[in-house]
Amino acid sequence: MTSQKQMKIVLQMVSGYGGEFKTWRLPEAKADAYSDMDLYVELAQLAEKGKIHALFMADTPALVNDLETNTPMHSMDPLIAMTSVARATSHIGLVGTFSTTFNEPYNLARHLKALDVISRGRVGWNAVTTSTPQTAANFGTHIANRAERYERAHEMIEAVQSLWGSWGEHAYKHDKETGHFADSSQIKPVHYQGQYLSTVGPLPIPPSEQGQPAIFQAGPSGEGIKLAGRFASGVYANPFTIEESREYREILRQSAVEHGRSADDINIFTGFMFTIADTREEALARRRQVMNFDPVETEQRLDYLSAMVGVNLKSLDVERPLPQGVREMLQAHWQDPRSPRAVELLKEGYSPMDTLAMGVINYHPVVVGTAKDVADFLQEWFESGATDGFSIVPDLAHDGVKRFVEEVVPILQERGIFHKDYEGATLRENLDLPYQYGLREED
Ligand SMILES: Cc1cc2nc3c(=O)[nH]c(=O)nc-3n(C[C@H](O)[C@H](O)[C@H](O)COP(=O)(O)O)c2cc1C
Repeated sequence: MTSQKQMKIVLQMVSGYGGEFKTWRLPEAKADAYSDMDLYVELAQLAEKGKIHALFMADTPALVNDLETNTPMHSMDPLIAMTSVARATSHIGLVGTFSTTFNEPYNLARHLKALDVISRGRVGWNAVTTSTPQTAANFGTHIANRAERYERAHEMIEAVQSLWGSWGEHAYKHDKETGHFADSSQIKPVHYQGQYLSTVGPLPIPPSEQGQPAIFQAGPSGEGIKLAGRFASGVYANPFTIEESREYREILRQSAVEHGRSADDINIFTGFMFTIADTREEALARRRQVMNFDPVETEQRLDYLSAMVGVNLKSLDVERPLPQGVREMLQAHWQDPRSPRAVELLKEGYSPMDTLAMGVINYHPVVVGTAKDVADFLQEWFESGATDGFSIVPDLAHDGVKRFVEEVVPILQERGIFHKDYEGATLRENLDLPYQYGLREED
């Protein structure tokens, strides 16, 4: 047993492939993974072998990227995917994203609590307000302003948690002898009435092993931080530097305290992507292979990289290290926190193309290297107080999950910073979250 604080890890499932939307063409990939639920289940089982705390599914109910050559950004339906995985696993958590804007409390409360019961207490709800116009269009409306979206989000979580608590904790009797199935005096309507939402209840679903699902949140505005401080046990974030992440974590912890909770009740999971190979050269070569699938996009990315470092890289040989004089002219763009890393790599002698391949303009920090490089990165962020855990995204899930589980996890365990086994069988036990049933009294 160790008393050392250990990192928590959730695996982003994306659409069954990985975080890079062109890796589906690699020989290692299963090209039709999007519609192959067996593969999803296999990946989940593999992650469970590696004691990964939870699977994490982002979602936007709309087509938001070009499918001509890219894989989708999200699963076909997170609820259905989570349900399939729930029946084939026993310990790994299942955190799904469901919009507070484009749902009604009763259907959401019902889906998530039923899944929590079915999975024996392993569900988390990433409650996001959603700001994609395509999603709004699918629901015949437009994106409301931020204040309104967040007011509705507070109401949504209040209403859902009230419904979850509407079946009393001890109401489920199922006693054949006495013929008493349930104590209806403990199953009561909630009569929730907000400005945007209302529901009567009760919701006829008993508690799960963890009581009810845990709440997660994503969205870094002031309103998002308040929502997280009030309700969230986990926050999914995408900082690019340790300093940025540390600051955000402190703000979130403070927000939890302001809402009458303990700072430790809130865990930040920073997004992180990786490509693992036996050597750094091989890892980089794989990313170059993926870039070759789309030369037009690579051209556009070179333009973007040029803006990030203040030099027109396309006027130079993009396959060679920059001349010394040019390296001295490089300047990180103050508005993009990824720019200093790009400048650093170019100064170290990476060519512009290799710098791109190192993932400097991905939407999370990227490590391209060996399993040890990945473990070192995670350890540095974790031990510097930047984060409580990680939301990891392999470039391609089909081999990335296996490599992470078989190669990175043992290193982290050896270093004492990742658990060797699940602490319990529920998500709350494994993330060390307090038990909760219904809406907290303070709320
Ligand atoms: C790391 C991260 C992940 C997110 N994932 C999702 C998602 O899966 N689905 C979704 O609809 N919105 C997602 N969002 C968007 C939020 O719902 C929110 O609309 C957006 O961040 C704007 O929030 P803000 O007003 O707090 O800035 C995500 C946001 C962040 C920062």
